[in-house]
Amino acid sequence: MTRAAVVGAGMTKFGVHDTPLQELFGEAAFGALDDAGVTTDDLDALYFGNAMSGQAENETHLGPRVASHIGAAGLEVQRFEDACATSANAFKNAVRAVDAGVHDVVLVGGVERCTPETGKDTPAMTRIFASASHRQYEQPTGLTFPSVFALLTKRHMHEHGTTEEDLAAVAVKNHANGRLNPRAHFGKETSVEEVLDGPVVADPFRLMDCCPFSDGASAVVVVSDDLADSFDAPVDVTGVGHATDVVPIADKADLPATQAARDAATEAYAQAGIEADDADFAEVHDCFTGAEILASEAIGFAPEGEGGTYAAEGRTALDGDRPINPSGGLKAKGHPIGATGTAQIVELTEQIRGTVGERQVSDANVGVAHNLGGDSATTVVSVLEGRA
Ligand code: COA
Repeated sequence: MTRAAVVGAGMTKFGVHDTPLQELFGEAAFGALDDAGVTTDDLDALYFGNAMSGQAENETHLGPRVASHIGAAGLEVQRFEDACATSANAFKNAVRAVDAGVHDVVLVGGVERCTPETGKDTPAMTRIFASASHRQYEQPTGLTFPSVFALLTKRHMHEHGTTEEDLAAVAVKNHANGRLNPRAHFGKETSVEEVLDGPVVADPFRLMDCCPFSDGASAVVVVSDDLADSFDAPVDVTGVGHATDVVPIADKADLPATQAARDAATEAYAQAGIEADDADFAEVHDCFTGAEILASEAIGFAPEGEGGTYAAEGRTALDGDRPINPSGGLKAKGHPIGATGTAQIVELTEQIRGTVGERQVSDANVGVAHNLGGDSATTVVSVLEGRA
């Protein structure tokens, strides 16, 4: 079992921000530090994620900049980039460092701006995101991330009979959850009819099947097991699995390409000493509705081929028996790339503490976070549990 705990959590509202990156991160960082009751003087290190700021905002070498902005200049700062799994990888490394006795208190988080506030519109940002696909084999074909996940979802529809109505059910659920989350990008509900009437982005995805481009930041304080009991409401990190897969989707052995997620979940569950059925809820990487269906199967919340049915039958709803994405997920909460992984950890922490109000999952004691990067070529799965 991994021995580390989350003792503080903070995040900005996800949406549109005209704030510079270091200030946006500062809001989340101070939220996490205040929640833990520590200051930057108590930190041993900052593990920090950002994926795209070099291309999107002509800003690199962000680590020392965000550290000095929060008054932590001089600290060891490690910056991570793993496409959409950026801050989940930062979190994994913070947990490993604390577990190994290298550090006792680590601030870990991420920040990203993806909206036109960066000066980049949807086509420009779509091209920047596509840099996470294979440079020689995929980018020349014009493959974008909506089309990557559309291809994987089409395969699932072909193999298992998943329907566009099943996909729409995911969007309806996540918008209903997001409406209960004051930090979500979108605060409005949708309906199956509205989803199915939307303009096609990449068949079978319509507008409401897609996550938006968002700005935002998130952060958590990770401490060693020895220190955890001196904090209010520590939440144990009992497992973190990380796996990769080949990058061109044409070369993947197991379409629709969930091997990395299955491997990461197997590792995380083994560390935690649990089975998928022991988990009470999950936050998964629903960059598109079909991606949530694939993820729900990969982490063992739904049987193979039944992820769509599970969503359509309401089993993954807040009051279902396998709740997924109570935060609203990437679909409604938003997806500021480098902030998404630790935002999932924020939601797990707050759900397990029982502090999220109307979107509270009942008896939420064991939570799973699934954060993928690129065309499923990186996946990090984390297990958090309430301290008995
Ligand atoms: N879900 C719901 N509503 C959305 C939305 C989304 N994903 N994206 C935009 N909207 C809404 C906007 O709020 C706006 O509403 P309004 O007219 O009431 O203000 C309207 O749709 C048009 O917004 P706009 O920004 O002009 O949309 P767009 O056509 O430029 O972009 C997408 C829409 C879906 C193409 C874009 O959000 C997208 O590409 N998303 C996927 C991002 C991605 O690939 N992330 C990486 C995943 S691995």
